[in-house]
Amino acid sequence: MTEYSHDIVIIGGGLAGLMAAITCAESGSDVAILSKVHPLRSHSVAAQGGINAALGNAGTGDSWEAHAKDTIVGSDYLADQDSVAEMCREGPGIVRELEHMGTVFSRTIEGKIAQRPFGGAGFPRTCYAADRTGHSLLNTLYEQLCSRNVPVYEEFFVTSLVVGGGRCLGCTALDIATGDVAGFSSGAILLATGGFGRIFERSTNALINTGDGVALALRAGARLKDMEFVQFHPTSLFGTNILISEAARGEGGYLLNSRGERFMSRYAPRAMELAPRDVVARAIELELSAGRGFDGGYVHLDIRHLGESRIRERLPGIRQIAIDFAGVDPVDSPIPVQPAQHYSMGGISTDNNGATSVPGLYAAGECACVSVHGANRLGGNSLLETVVFGRRAARAIIASGTPAGSGNPGAVADMAGSEEAHLNRLLDRKDGESVYTIRDELKRTMSENFGIYREQQSMETGLEHILTLGKRYLTAGVRYGGREFNQAIVQALEVGGMLLLAEAVAKGALERRESRGSHARTDFPVRNDAEYLFHTMADISSGKIGISRAPVSMGLVQVAERAY
Ligand code: FUM
Repeated sequence: MTEYSHDIVIIGGGLAGLMAAITCAESGSDVAILSKVHPLRSHSVAAQGGINAALGNAGTGDSWEAHAKDTIVGSDYLADQDSVAEMCREGPGIVRELEHMGTVFSRTIEGKIAQRPFGGAGFPRTCYAADRTGHSLLNTLYEQLCSRNVPVYEEFFVTSLVVGGGRCLGCTALDIATGDVAGFSSGAILLATGGFGRIFERSTNALINTGDGVALALRAGARLKDMEFVQFHPTSLFGTNILISEAARGEGGYLLNSRGERFMSRYAPRAMELAPRDVVARAIELELSAGRGFDGGYVHLDIRHLGESRIRERLPGIRQIAIDFAGVDPVDSPIPVQPAQHYSMGGISTDNNGATSVPGLYAAGECACVSVHGANRLGGNSLLETVVFGRRAARAIIASGTPAGSGNPGAVADMAGSEEAHLNRLLDRKDGESVYTIRDELKRTMSENFGIYREQQSMETGLEHILTLGKRYLTAGVRYGGREFNQAIVQALEVGGMLLLAEAVAKGALERRESRGSHARTDFPVRNDAEYLFHTMADISSGKIGISRAPVSMGLVQVAERAY
């Protein structure tokens, strides 16, 4: 086993991880990043539409309070209102800092950062770099990271967190290049590993979004929050499910059914296509099930009226995606779109500074649930969350005074030994059932039973299937036994975590007998604040996931009917 030691280890090299690492490095801390891919291949790079901050640059009277209110209403009142306030208050400052670091935002005619309207927002609040905002931000932060000489262990897949004496002491990781297990002892660990969208069949997420960090935290004793809330983006490209940014609707694009009707007038007469995502995704689903979609199950997103020059300037990425992957140039033809899983509102429960229920273990970004999104996230708030809470977590770790070398190399070495034995068992089971069969069945059952609309009977069937797959996984194997760059081992390890997360989603969804935000139950179609205005908490004991409840922090916005 190769042994490493750093005061602070950050797992994940997307926006939350990079912002945290930069903050730690600036304070002079010994910090390192571990990531299963090169940081620039993290899923943050795929974010298109923009980052929210109440700059008011579009000539409006926007304020952080208005941003907070929109976010809370959009969350169907499940977001913790103190956390939302922190995020929205920090928004304008952090966006300007990103600009000073080098992000090339699109501009207004006066040279200010341009802002476009997004769903559920009362003002044009989404700052953007054409439709490649995540790409621009991630490259900015990666350059900043490089200039601070932070070590990055690329292509290391973390296999376990080491917990002893009631705190996190380090982690073990598979060095994908060599196939060896390495041990990292550290005083604090920050998980910034992104979401778990790939437990679903149709997803806009990168293939790497398998929820590894969330599963690691659960196994290490941390609690998860609100796992049942899964966001379905209304507009993914039909067939491939590549994201077609909400920016297209923000710029004025509209949705049409097979009769040529702008059907959103039936579902959100005021906001139309710029209602929040849960509302628009449900509207599309209802149009399709009423037989008003196109063959195969899609509707049209029409941006032709924006004209070629505006499409080229503001939406060049989605134009290229439509040309390359659907053979359609949106300048001349509507884009075929369908809803697909996009974001995990639930995740590792943290406080406003990233602390989890395990001392020494922190989380930020999509893998965490602070919670600022509640039951439904507004577009543009995810990028903001990554940088605000990535930095807050780093500051909290530094302030905790994590002493140098406070990990425990002995405990880490013991865990590395068990992980090595586990890997050998997996590699020896060459005739076991294929892990890919289990993974594909899992995705299908999640899509069929925990999609946009849900109901008791099918969710129970889905949960039963997930548990059966979990048993089959115990005897599944990997066909190729080599160690170097064996992606089959990585995927087999990912599937173990995906099964756990699917169980947590299913149990949370069954517990919540109401409809709220993205959790729409046909058998309980109404929001029920009297009984269900609470967070679901998931933890694991004796290999089983249990669900409990926790209160929602209120105080800023009164609960009311949500109408767009
Ligand atoms: O549609 C989009 O551009 C996605 C943005 C987001 O998820 O925040």
